[in-house]
Formats: sequence, structure tokens, C-alpha cells
Amino acid sequence: MKEQLEKIYSDAASDIEKAVTVKDLEDIKFKYLGRKGEFNEIKKKLKDLSDEDKRIIGSRANEITKQLESAISEKFQIFYEQELNKKLEKERIDITLPGQYIPRGSVHPLTSTTNEIVAIFQNLGFSVAPNEESPEVETEYFNFDMLNVPKDHPARDMQDTFYTNIAKNVVLRSQTSGAQVHVMENQKPPIRIIAPGRVYRNENINSRKNNFFHQIEGLYVDKNITFGDLKGVLNEFIRLYFGAVRPTRFRSSFFPFTEPSAEVDVQCIMCEGKGCRTCSGTGWLEILGAGMVDPNVLRGVGIDPDVYSGFAFGMGIERLAMLKYAIDDIRLFFNNDLRFLEQFKK
Ligand code: DAH
Repeated sequence: MKEQLEKIYSDAASDIEKAVTVKDLEDIKFKYLGRKGEFNEIKKKLKDLSDEDKRIIGSRANEITKQLESAISEKFQIFYEQELNKKLEKERIDITLPGQYIPRGSVHPLTSTTNEIVAIFQNLGFSVAPNEESPEVETEYFNFDMLNVPKDHPARDMQDTFYTNIAKNVVLRSQTSGAQVHVMENQKPPIRIIAPGRVYRNENINSRKNNFFHQIEGLYVDKNITFGDLKGVLNEFIRLYFGAVRPTRFRSSFFPFTEPSAEVDVQCIMCEGKGCRTCSGTGWLEILGAGMVDPNVLRGVGIDPDVYSGFAFGMGIERLAMLKYAIDDIRLFFNNDLRFLEQFKK
């Protein structure tokens, strides 16, 4: 039995010697030291021996088991490290390689201009009307009728307004002013809102006109609102937007939904009033339309014009951005030419 034991020992030792993978070692461990392994078979037979032999062979068996276990685990450790090193070598990262260039986008200048204008009016106490009160696809009711635009007004012509074939009187809105009607139908005064958004007009496209552009509408309705409030708010807006007090001019004008109406000019920021190409030699740049809400409009939405009054304004966002950044062609906003857009990276 002793010889048998030593034979197993030398077989196992030579198997361990020959092992080249972790898997080989696992197989060896199973074959010799496992529950049904060769050593256990021997140990089971110990009980048939004399006490003396039991002691000698038993202790030799334990000794061999320990030696094999430690030989296996030593070799296991070596294989483990070798495999780890191989893996590390394969996954090595060269930190000196230049990084991959990921182009970074930026906010579109019309978006940042809109955000800037919205923030100014929010600071003046206006809030942005909910989207559903400022839809781009409108009925004539909101875009014209309730704004006191006569049935035969030229702005309604197919040449100016895009009619859809959803229904006879469904249009792509030609102005954000319809938001005024939505808001006044849904809220009671005091009302102080702005509504930014896209508008559409059937225009021949050139450097100053596109067939869609963006406006911001404003509306303030309360008791005792006067033209003085309108001037104060708009002058303050101009000061904050252009970064300095600039001479302004309120020119008498006409809009069906305001009475009196005005167009507001700001002194040309290119020539400071001397007259240049940007201002067509006049020294002034028109930036918005405004006025006191017409009593007919208030009555239409059930607000008593003897109790309440209000002012409204609408401004073109492209125009304001073009003036601030000296952009001479409105089409640049819509071409998605990166050479243009990248100039607005912050
Ligand atoms: N909706 C006008 C336009 O598109 C601009 C405008 C003028 C808006 C006067 C107003 C206003 O709210 O009071 O030309």
C-alpha cells in the first residue's frame, strides 16, 4: 500500500510538472485530490490496516496531500499571473495617442437670441404663454378674425398667407399675434405674457425676407395701462438687449388690432444715426410693431374695454439678431452652414 501511495504521488507530481494551463491543474486536482480521487480511495482502505500501519501510512498520505495541494496552488498562481499579464498586454492603452476629435455643437444664434429676449421680458414680469396657446398651425379665426383684421384685408390673400388643405380656413400663422387671442380667451386680466415662435409668409426669398421667420409677441392687459407703460417697457427692453441706452423713435403706424399703433425704430447701431447701408441712409432701424390693444379685440374675448386696457407688441427675432451681430443676409440662419454657425460658439 505504501508503494501504491508513493506511485500515485510521483504520478501526480509529474502530472503537475507537465501541466501547462489552469484547466490542466483543475483536472489534476480532481483526479488525485477530489472526493472520488485516488487519495480518497486509499484513505478509505486505511481502516483495514494495523494501528501501526494506519499511523505511518495515514500520516504519509496527509503529508503527500499537503505537498500536492501546495504544488498545485503554486503553479496555479504562476499561470494566473501569466494569463493576467497576457490580458493586460492585449488591452494596453497608449495614453500618448492623440484623442479622438468629437465636434461640439452650439446653440443656434436664433435660439440664443430668443432665449435672451425671453429672459429680459421675464425679468420685467412677463411669462411665456403655454405652447398650446401659441400654435403654428392656426385658424383664420385666431390669425385674423379676432385680431380685427377685415375679411378683405390684403394680408389674408393667398399671396401672403399659406393656406393648408386641412380645412378651408386653416393657415400657417402669419404672425404670433394669434397667441394674444388664445391667452385672453383662457385667462382673466391682469395678463402679462410673451409668446415666441415661428411664423410663415408667402414671400419671395431674398437677403431680407424668408418664407418663415420668428417673432416674439407681447401682451399686457390690466386696469390703467397706458401708452406710457408701452414706451417704458420697450425702451427698457432695447436698453437691455443692445446693452446701452439707445435713442428710439415711436413712429405712428397702423395695425388692425391696436389703436393707436406705432412702429419702433432704434438709432442705427452701425452708423449711430449718420446714415449707412444697413439703415438705407435713414439713421434708424425699425425693430418692432406695437400699440394699445384695440377695444374691438378686447370685446371679442369678453374683456370690458371700459375697465381694462392693454398694450401689445411683436418683434422679428431674425431682425434683432441681424442688428446685434451685424448679419446682412437672413438666409444665413437657415442654411446650416457650419462656417456661419460656429461663429456663435460661446
Ligand atoms: N403682428 C405684427 C406683424 O407681424 C406685429 C405687431 C404689431 C404685433 C403690433 C403686435 C402689435 O402685437 O401690437 O407685423
